[in-house]
Amino acid sequence: MKIFLDTANVEEIKQAIGYGLLDGVTTNPSLVAKSATKERGFVDIVKEILRITPGPVSIEVVATDYENMVKQGLKIAALGDNAVVKIPMTLDGLRAIKTLSEKQIKVNCTLIFNPIQALLAAKSGAEYVSPFVGRLDDIGEDGMAIIQQIKTIFVNYDISTKILVASIRNPVHVLRSAVLGADVVTLPMDVLQKLPSHPKTDEGLKRFLDDWKKVSPDGEFPL
Ligand code: E4P
Repeated sequence: MKIFLDTANVEEIKQAIGYGLLDGVTTNPSLVAKSATKERGFVDIVKEILRITPGPVSIEVVATDYENMVKQGLKIAALGDNAVVKIPMTLDGLRAIKTLSEKQIKVNCTLIFNPIQALLAAKSGAEYVSPFVGRLDDIGEDGMAIIQQIKTIFVNYDISTKILVASIRNPVHVLRSAVLGADVVTLPMDVLQKLPSHPKTDEGLKRFLDDWKKVSPDGEFPL
């Protein structure tokens, strides 16, 4: 399972690269708005992210009509070989996905909240579908249930579109994504940093270091 970072923050991306964990990045207009400044706007930010990321970077259109989604998508795709155009799940969006994918441009269909939306996006040619599990949990639905249904549908019909689990809020979402065979999870930095933690790991490490002081009272390592 690939791990993407859900951010437009260049420092976070560099940190995740340092951990050896970064396979790609997803951005959205809200994330860009958090990182943008007067001096450093959308274009500078996404160019830098595309340059440093060793994998696909999803960048979202902000148009809602077919013609302008395609225009913006073409401009996004021209920014770099690893640029993926993010298109929202609407009828115009489906048309735009078809047009862009026929030009060999990779599309990530975003704002997916049920399995049929995922099936439609796949049929139109999307490379990725992004179901938002956390936002479903927020309204009392089981977000992960749709991942299971999408997986079943894609297996049933031998669909190669990748399931990119989005709106992830906690490590359990990541675990369930992996068990279900999702292709990608996109994580906010705080969830990524929680993944290696376990209280028994902390406890075990403390015991090893305490015992080491019996060998070397100052804690020094003799090699
Ligand atoms: C996906 O690509 C979106 O950027 C993202 O996962 C949305 O997550 P949120 O519900 O935490 O805003």
